[in-house]
Amino acid sequence: MVAFALSRDVIDSPVGTTLLDQQLVVYRTSDGVVVADDICPHRGVALSAGTGDGTSVACAYHGIRFGSGGICVAVPAHPRSKIPARLNLRGYPTVERYGLVWTCLRPDPNGVIDQQLPTMPHWDDPGFQQVTKNMDTDQDPRQIYDFNLRIFEEDRAIVEIQKPENLPLDPRIEVNIAADRSSVAYRRGLRGLGLSQFFTT
Ligand code: FES
Repeated sequence: MVAFALSRDVIDSPVGTTLLDQQLVVYRTSDGVVVADDICPHRGVALSAGTGDGTSVACAYHGIRFGSGGICVAVPAHPRSKIPARLNLRGYPTVERYGLVWTCLRPDPNGVIDQQLPTMPHWDDPGFQQVTKNMDTDQDPRQIYDFNLRIFEEDRAIVEIQKPENLPLDPRIEVNIAADRSSVAYRRGLRGLGLSQFFTT
């Protein structure tokens, strides 16, 4: 499974996106997020041009509505007729976790999706701080190396006059302020691993 959207960006209104050259529509209902091909099964209009109300989305052309799981729930031209299953959207398994929306364009035929997600057991632990970064896969790696080297060189002069020389794992050795939450958690994690040889405990 791949993460392709921030959970907070997925709203009632259908939004079009492209994943691995496949055009998808994503929208939110009270039952969760729906990810499907961005095409209305009726006459091929992009569903991302439609509207949503939190329970379903409506195609911009003839107003056919699709709800949770991409199931067709209303055909305005024939409100009393049975809705054919062929009007349901072609959807993909979707999981919201770690503040992200995950999907898979080639789902496991056995329906197994949860085990394919990376495990981040401390994600909801208040003692840990989440640090995320968008990586540009087209960026020249040399730019990343140069940037990290510049940051390292900026810190070098300060770090080399810092005491103690080893990383202090005992939080009483220094005075921590609120902004140090992630470094305190990091040191606590190192202590929990039993590290001490290159650290001050
Ligand atoms: S094309 Fe979507 S409702 Fe007709």
